[in-house]
Amino acid sequence: IHHIWKCSYLTGRAHGWRYYHSTALKNWTQAREWCREEYTDMVAIQSQEENDHLVSLLPTRTGSPYYWIGITKSEKSDPWTWVGNNSTWVGNQSWATDEPNNNHVTEFCVEIYVNNNKANRGKWNDEKCSEKKYPVCYQAQCNLTSCDRGRCRETIDNTICLCEPGFGGDRCQTAVTCDALSVPQHGRLQCHGSYGPSRFNSSCRFHCDLGYRVEGPEWLQCQASGRWDHPAPRCQVEQCAALKWTSDRLLRTCLHPIANDSFNSTCAFSCEEGFELSGQSVTICDHAGRWTAEVPTCSGKGTFFVHFYC
Ligand SMILES: *[C@@H]1O[C@H](CO)[C@@H](O)[C@H](O)[C@H]1NC(C)=O
Ligand SMILES: *[C@@H]1O[C@H](CO)[C@@H](O)[C@H](O)[C@H]1NC(C)=O
Ligand SMILES: *[C@@H]1O[C@H](CO)[C@@H](O)[C@H](O)[C@H]1NC(C)=O
Ligand SMILES: *[C@@H]1O[C@H](CO)[C@@H](O)[C@H](O)[C@H]1NC(C)=O
Ligand SMILES: *[C@@H]1O[C@H](CO)[C@@H](O)[C@H](O)[C@H]1NC(C)=O
Ligand SMILES: *[C@@H]1O[C@H](CO)[C@@H](O)[C@H](O)[C@H]1NC(C)=O
Repeated sequence: IHHIWKCSYLTGRAHGWRYYHSTALKNWTQAREWCREEYTDMVAIQSQEENDHLVSLLPTRTGSPYYWIGITKSEKSDPWTWVGNNSTWVGNQSWATDEPNNNHVTEFCVEIYVNNNKANRGKWNDEKCSEKKYPVCYQAQCNLTSCDRGRCRETIDNTICLCEPGFGGDRCQTAVTCDALSVPQHGRLQCHGSYGPSRFNSSCRFHCDLGYRVEGPEWLQCQASGRWDHPAPRCQVEQCAALKWTSDRLLRTCLHPIANDSFNSTCAFSCEEGFELSGQSVTICDHAGRWTAEVPTCSGKGTFFVHFYC
């Protein structure tokens, strides 16, 4: 009812924007005002395909007046510019033969011929803006809720969401997922992210058990590409320096529960008969990779001065 009252007609709809035209004649300025009041703006054509599509939707006329479209200029030397977004698209077949001719010196507005003349149908003609013709408008279908994490773009037969990096889905509603990380052996993993576990921008911190250290980067972040920014680190057992000794009088018994000379390796020392141990008899590789004691030495027993007192 509203549209009949306003004397306008839904010319057609692509899945994207809808086209409307008025059956009331208006000069170009009034035509644009009407389009902006009732819809989004005057129609903007950005390709030959869109041009042909629009022509197929508009009622064919047998002669002037035709339809105003949203391309104009304000000076003779200016480029023709679409009012919606300042695009200057003009196809090499857009103008009718010998147009634009600026016949009346101030022909700064454009009409589209929608007639049955094979040579002219769908072609453009420059006209004085004060002439009265039928406006053609479009109603944008993109709105604030069309795309969650992206920009909505109207195309001839669709609206598409151009997603921000890190998001996907037809409405850019899902964050990109990285492969789940596995808990390292001898360690644990602490992750948090605003968009869910292993989703874009979530970060994980690797911790290792006592006696192990993180070999590689401690923090990983899920990138927009769906890959973690680094390969996952490993928990590497703490390593002590190999024990060295010179005295061949020293006897040792070592246990290496994890790996040679590493965390929790233990060596017990003693000396051959007749020699004396100097230093600690046990050393342990601690959780920081340090031996708790140095290797002891064995020395000959001191000379005993036995004094006999008679
Ligand atoms: C188009 O250009 C005019 C004049 O340069 C400017 O005022 C206007 O904001 C522009 N519009 C868009 C959508 O870029
Ligand atoms: C103007 O808008 C149309 C339709 O949305 C788009 O195809 C075109 O790329 C835009 N041009 C500029 C210069 O922004
Ligand atoms: C128009 O331009 C298109 C591509 O830009 C080209 O393929 C075509 O040959 C051109 N047609 C004429 C008549 O110049
Ligand atoms: C269009 O019509 C309005 C109202 O009559 C008038 O104010 C305006 O100057 C006209 N515009 C052109 C370009 O002739
Ligand atoms: C917003 O646009 C989408 C399509 O892009 C449509 O499905 C939805 O119904 C629209 N919402 C409103 C409130 O107009
Ligand atoms: C991703 O995380 C960084 C901080 O690590 C933050 O500055 C940025 O805003 C986040 N991006 C999104 C889209 O949430």
